[in-house]
Amino acid sequence: MTSKKPSTVESTTMRTHRCGDLRASHVGETVTLCGWVARRREHGEHLAFVDLRDYTGVVQCVVDNSADVRSEWVVQITGTVQRRPDGTINKNLATGEVELSNCSVVVLNAAEAPPFPIDQRADEVDENVRLKYRYLDIRRERMQRNLRIRSKVNSAIRTAMERQHFVEVETPFLMPSTPEGAREFLVPSRKEPGSFYALPQSPQLWKQLLMVAGIDRYYQIARCLRDEDLRADRQYEFMQLDAEMSFVTKDDVLAAISEAVMDAAEAVLGERPAPIERITWHDAMNRFGVDKPDLRFGMELVDVTAVFSATEFKAFSSAECIKAIRVEGVKYPEAAASGRNKLDALTDRAKQLGAKGLVWMKVGADKALESPVAKFLSDSERSALVDALGAVEGDLLLLVADTWSTTCEVLGQLRNDLGRPPVHEGPYRYVWVIDFPLFVGISATTGKPQPGHHPFCQPHPDDIERLESDPMSVRAQAYDLVLNGWELGSGSIRIHDPEMQRRVFRQLGISDEDADRRFGFFLQPFKFGAPPHGGFAFGTDRLVAILAGEENIREVIAFPKTQSGSDPMTNAPTQVNPTQLQELGIRTLPPPAKS
Ligand code: AMO
Ligand code: AMP
Repeated sequence: MTSKKPSTVESTTMRTHRCGDLRASHVGETVTLCGWVARRREHGEHLAFVDLRDYTGVVQCVVDNSADVRSEWVVQITGTVQRRPDGTINKNLATGEVELSNCSVVVLNAAEAPPFPIDQRADEVDENVRLKYRYLDIRRERMQRNLRIRSKVNSAIRTAMERQHFVEVETPFLMPSTPEGAREFLVPSRKEPGSFYALPQSPQLWKQLLMVAGIDRYYQIARCLRDEDLRADRQYEFMQLDAEMSFVTKDDVLAAISEAVMDAAEAVLGERPAPIERITWHDAMNRFGVDKPDLRFGMELVDVTAVFSATEFKAFSSAECIKAIRVEGVKYPEAAASGRNKLDALTDRAKQLGAKGLVWMKVGADKALESPVAKFLSDSERSALVDALGAVEGDLLLLVADTWSTTCEVLGQLRNDLGRPPVHEGPYRYVWVIDFPLFVGISATTGKPQPGHHPFCQPHPDDIERLESDPMSVRAQAYDLVLNGWELGSGSIRIHDPEMQRRVFRQLGISDEDADRRFGFFLQPFKFGAPPHGGFAFGTDRLVAILAGEENIREVIAFPKTQSGSDPMTNAPTQVNPTQLQELGIRTLPPPAKS
């Protein structure tokens, strides 16, 4: 069962070709293929069709029907490539012009009947079952494609970073627990019972130390671990392209990361994205109501505060900011024609999001407005509103009046709810969101500002003088990369000057002593000559999912956890042997009662 040919990309000592490679140009050749039996159909008295599958596709083999082969058996088939008889050509199959005839079949391994069909029908199978038999799920075309896209993305990223002279450095998995950020996974120490390591939420600490250490340009395709609630774009374990650079400004970081992202996109899609545009955080909020705007569709927020400057309508008269979105009847006929029930549901949604209410108006002929509040507005207000939005008959207008941030946030969510296309639709729209605020909101517990990203972001040079007098107005040199409304990554220029770090800590209510206690191991090295530096990390799972047209990153991860954080295949997390716990000095409490 071995062939004489040496191994090539297609051939090995056991096969001469891959199943999906055969074409009319191979007619007449004798070939040996290896793969899984995708399907067997009896054909007359003596023959059977076996569809043989490997990762490249499927080819039809005409075998003697005495051959005992069944679904998912692993076989080696040698036969002659022949043109399929007229009328039996399958245009939906890359190999559909040919078939293998005069086949001899060697069974390499028998198989039990699979728990679900190994084709697109498995998309409908309960995800727990797919994950329980993930090794069968991955045999399917969709998962094969996704994992290969993933590999291409990783490879393109690595090449782009190496080309730009980044140095790959591996950083520890076992590290001290740090008080910031998401919840950590802890690992008990056997040598020091009662003490714990934490698994890295990201290599942030290490990469900044590598800058102090003179590495200059670091990168790593790094596994990160965060114990947070899982969602479509979140797993406990995920991968980042993590990078850090010395002697740079934001523009250098953005340029280097753009190279990696654009190379990855080009490797998968065959087309290089246009240069990535930039928008300030303020403009993103103002126009799209979110800090990760989906630029694939319009429905921008329009400020209409001035329209109602002298209004008698109470809900509007005292508001700091009034904005509206226009749901175009032509583009969104169903939403624009919403009946009372749907409009009430939209109003409830707006209230859940923090608005005091939602005004809706349907635009009729001659700018007439149908709305429960239309009667409270003057003719000139109604007409100015329609003009400000460029609204036409059939459109639905939605208005919120509140503080600037609440107005933007609520309408931004409604805009996404109503207009956002599925991830696989429409063009890829990358955008850098820059100039995030240094602080966001005031902590209910400390009464102090809270860090926007983390407390190590360098304030914007134009705003530093206001750090003490008006901290909430200070921008950070922090930036996010957004693709089709998904946050792909974030980064910042870091504080390298200990005095600046102390000033920021003080605003956060962290005294010098506190800072030394909590972040000492991190701050100490900065006293020994830290270069100005900055960096970035983006989630490769998310990039791959979007490039693969998948809505959930689980579809692009070989062995992900379910939404509830378990692995149906291995049953992790599992209980452990009591002696293991004893060695670690751990006694467990009974599990909390399920509510
Ligand atoms: P941040 O916490 O924003 O930044 O993470 C960067 C990117 O990592 C991805 N990501 C995740 N992907 C899947 N599942 C998760 N649970 C998850 N959490 C985060 C996202 C996110 O944008 N050290 C900083 C970066 C820096 O400042 O250099 C950091 O980790 O795509
Ligand atoms: P009310 O005067 O509270 O009965 O509200 C009249 C209408 O205005 C209702 O449809 C409310 O949902 C809406 N509304 C009230 N407050 C606001 C607000 N701040 N912004 C937008 N709509 C509001």
